[in-house]
Amino acid sequence: MDSRTKIILGKTLSFKKNPMINGLEDSYSFIDTGAVFIKNGLIEKVLDSQGLSLPDDVEIIDYKENLILAGFVDAHLHYPQTAIINSWGRRLIDWLNEYTFPEEGRFHNLDYASEIASRYFDISLSHGVTTSVSYGTIHSESVDAFFLEARARGLRALTGKTCMDRNAPSYLCDTAQVSYDQSKALIEKWHGVDRLGYVITPRFSPTSTLEQLDALGALWKEYPDCLMQTHIGEQPEEVKWVKELFPKSKDYLDTYEKSGLLGPKSVFGHGIYLTDREKDRIKEVKASIVHCPTSNTFIGSGLFDMKGLSLAGQKIGLATDIGGGSSFSMLKVMAAAYEISQLRGHALHPADLLWLSTRGSAESIHLDKKIGNLAPGMEADILVLDLHSTTAISQRAKQSKNIWELVFPTIMMGDDRAIKDVFIKGEQWSPKLK
Ligand code: GUN
Ligand code: ZN
Repeated sequence: MDSRTKIILGKTLSFKKNPMINGLEDSYSFIDTGAVFIKNGLIEKVLDSQGLSLPDDVEIIDYKENLILAGFVDAHLHYPQTAIINSWGRRLIDWLNEYTFPEEGRFHNLDYASEIASRYFDISLSHGVTTSVSYGTIHSESVDAFFLEARARGLRALTGKTCMDRNAPSYLCDTAQVSYDQSKALIEKWHGVDRLGYVITPRFSPTSTLEQLDALGALWKEYPDCLMQTHIGEQPEEVKWVKELFPKSKDYLDTYEKSGLLGPKSVFGHGIYLTDREKDRIKEVKASIVHCPTSNTFIGSGLFDMKGLSLAGQKIGLATDIGGGSSFSMLKVMAAAYEISQLRGHALHPADLLWLSTRGSAESIHLDKKIGNLAPGMEADILVLDLHSTTAISQRAKQSKNIWELVFPTIMMGDDRAIKDVFIKGEQWSPKLK
């Protein structure tokens, strides 16, 4: 690793607190002429470069009017669905059966899994995502491929074998015992290697028997350091189906809790259709919910209650939910989050959106001590945003009166053209796709 100091100059944005609950003023730090010092892959300090005499024996990259912030953290996605993103039409269960399951069936082949994992990372990095929390498929090969490709790029990345033992094609089903054994072997092989983390991953209650959920709950007890990810309350039909499949459970959340799959390190995708009891209980145990707005509009799932949940103190992350989500861009995800919240009568501030896509997402996966912010000691996974990436964006940005007006056109209209540069642990990533 390069142990020399590197300094990157530009406008810098860091977060001190969650602006959705603490108000804007005390929550962020913006420096118009910032300097980020990077050493040994970590952020050493963030200072104002005005009046600072910079050493002349270090590498200095001057991004001038561009905005430097933490890389995006995509807290819920399915990398094996990369190649079937934007499959037309249908509701969740039909979409899974028609498009998703046949594609996921291909991931027993390590070569194919590696090709898609490599493609996924190249695309997501070109959109400024520096940490991904993905579902694999039922196949251990899908997890190996993802971790190998992440490691080759030096990325912090998380995934797990997606466990199913019913209500899916036989080629995608294992058993309670096999899911336990294979997940355990993968944890032993990968968890904590470099910057990789294993996530215990029952897909969702409809595709697991009680026996499988119990087996994964037992596994989690053995490896409490791992996250546990699954889906909850995405569509009304799904909630109704869970009621039929688990008549003895109080509600959807209870199907997980009964099997030991509810705790502070539970990460629940979607969470649109939750009862008051479920909301209270998720908050009580300090588990996370990940908002997937482009997916919730694309699959027609519904309008997430960002204001209500965040004001209640719920930990919330933000995600693309590839391939249910229609874009790899966290900018598009933020734009969709804004519009969904507007439809519920609440205008999320640009600071709220940037918090959610960086430090908020990092908190939701218990990595906020390491990633998600431009602050001393954090891993130098950094994003440089061009706030004038298109004519349409630039002409609006030129009218701005402050940083928030300046960045908002990029949030709403931006795409991968706005990603000026990405640093992975302090090293500039060179895009193959551009
Ligand atoms: N629920 C269970 N599996 C999935 C999936 O792959 N995508 C989405 N959006 N929801 C799910
Ligand atoms: Zn999902």
